[in-house]
Amino acid sequence: MSPVPHDAQPCAPIALVPAPERLDVSPGRCVLGPDTVIAHDLGGSRAARLLTDLLAAAPAVGAGAPLVRIAVDPGLDANPEAYRLDTTESSVSVVGASELGALHAVQSLRQLLPVDAGTEPWAVACVSIVDRPRLGWRGAMLDVARHFRSVEFVLRFLDLLALHKFNVLHLHLTDDQGWRLEIEQYPRLTEIGAWRAGTMVGHMSENRADELAHDGLRHGGYYTHDDIRRIVARADELGITVMPEIDLPGHSQAAIAAYPELGNNATANQVRTGWGISTHILNVETETLDFFKTVLDTVMDLFPSKYIHVGGDEVPADEWRESPAAQHRMQELGILDAHELEDWFIAELNTQIRARGRTMVGWEEIGDRTLPPGSVLMPWKNAATAIAAVQAGHDVIMAPSTHTYFDHHQGEDAGSEPLAIGGPLGIRKVYEFEPIPAELDDDARSHVLGGQFQLWSEYIPSAEHMEYMAFPRACAIAEVLWSADRDADDFFDRRLPAHLRRLDALGVAYRR
Ligand code: ACM
Repeated sequence: MSPVPHDAQPCAPIALVPAPERLDVSPGRCVLGPDTVIAHDLGGSRAARLLTDLLAAAPAVGAGAPLVRIAVDPGLDANPEAYRLDTTESSVSVVGASELGALHAVQSLRQLLPVDAGTEPWAVACVSIVDRPRLGWRGAMLDVARHFRSVEFVLRFLDLLALHKFNVLHLHLTDDQGWRLEIEQYPRLTEIGAWRAGTMVGHMSENRADELAHDGLRHGGYYTHDDIRRIVARADELGITVMPEIDLPGHSQAAIAAYPELGNNATANQVRTGWGISTHILNVETETLDFFKTVLDTVMDLFPSKYIHVGGDEVPADEWRESPAAQHRMQELGILDAHELEDWFIAELNTQIRARGRTMVGWEEIGDRTLPPGSVLMPWKNAATAIAAVQAGHDVIMAPSTHTYFDHHQGEDAGSEPLAIGGPLGIRKVYEFEPIPAELDDDARSHVLGGQFQLWSEYIPSAEHMEYMAFPRACAIAEVLWSADRDADDFFDRRLPAHLRRLDALGVAYRR
C-alpha cells in the first residue's frame, strides 16, 4: 500500500484538551477521509460510527488511504475509559479498555484533525497516545428548570461534552420556576407546572417592586418521553450517562402550583416568576410521598442511569413548623426539629430508589443530620461535608460553588459581564480546582468519584448565553478532572488558544 504523500500540508497543531497522560509524536502524517475503511470489533461499533460521522465532511483520500482498526481489549488497563491511539502514515489503531475508552480515543483523533472542513486533505500527525482519566465522574449540570433548553441544544451540548471527555450530563429537571418532565399520571405537572407567567427582570438583590420588575412574558417548555429517549440514546452513543434530578422536597413550587394538594397551604398558587429560594415546600402526607414515588418510577423507567438525584438542597422548614399536619407527622415520628422531616422524606425516597437497584444522589444538605444508607453526596458549600461523608464510607461528587458554579461571571469586573448571580469565577481559578480534599488519605480518596460544573440558569436566558457561560471554563475543568498531571502554562499559552479555533469552527459562543 502506498501512503498518501505527506509533504504537501502541515498537520493541525497538536493541542489536546484535556491533556493525555502520554503523547509521542513521530515524523509524517496520516490522511483520513470519508472513504477511509474503518474495521472494528463488536465493542468498537459506537467509536466507528462516531469516526464515520466525523470524517463525512472531509475530502476523499482515494487509493492508498490508511486503514483504521478499532478494538476493545479489557487487558489494556483496569480503567475502562483508558485507551491507546497510534497513527502512522498507513494505519490508525484505536484500542479501548472498553467501548468507552475507544470513544475517548476517537475524540482525541478528532482533536488532531483540521478544525475546518476546507478543501485540503485531512491529515493528522503520526502520534502514539496512551491515556486514561484521573477521575471517573466528569460531569456537567444543566439547569433546564429556570430556563428551558430545547432538545437540539441538549444534543449539541452532549457533543461538546464528549469532545472534552466528560461522561455525565446532570439534568436539573424541576425547580420552583418550572417542571420540565412529562409524567403521564400527573399531566398538570407539565400543563401548568412547565409554564410561568413571566420572569423577574434584573438581579434578585435589587428587590425591584416597580411594574417593570417582571417581563410579563410566558416562559416554559418540557421534555416528552420521546424527547428524553432521544437525549439518553444520543448520550449513550457518545459514552455519556444522563443523570436526572427531581429536586425535592424544597424547590418544588412549580409542582405545588400544578397540584396544590402537595403543598402545606394554599399560598403557592403559581409557578414562581422570581429567583431565590421559595418557602413553599412539599407537605409530608403519605399521598405526597406516593405521588413522588410514582414520579421517580417514571424517571427510573426513562433514565437508565445508576444514579438518581433527588435534590434535597435549601429546604426552609417554616411551613412545616406552621402546619398542624406536619406537626402531627413529627409527633408520629418522634422528632423535635422540623428539618428532620426532610431526612424522613429523603429516606423514604432512598428506599424506593434502592429497591430498584439504583443509587440516590443528593446535594450536601441530605447529609446535614444523617447520611441516607448507600447515598452519594454532592457537596457544594463545605469541603468538610465531603470529608465527613467519605469518612463515613459514602461516595461524593464534588461541586463546590467556589470553583464549579459556572453561573458566576467570568471577568473580574461584573460591570463588563452579562448579568450573573455572582462571581467572579475566572478560568484560571477553575483550572486551580482540586477535586480531592487534601485531608483524605489514599483509601478515602477513592470515594471521591469526581466532580462537575454547574450551569444554574436563573441569569442564563438563552442557549447562546449558556455556551458563553460554559466555555472556555469547561475546557479547564475537563483537564482538572481528566489529566493526572496538569501544566497550566501549556494549557493557557499553547493548547487552549489552538483549541479555541476548534470551538470557533464549531460555532461555540464561548467567552473571549
Ligand atoms: C444549590 O446550589 N442549591 C445546590
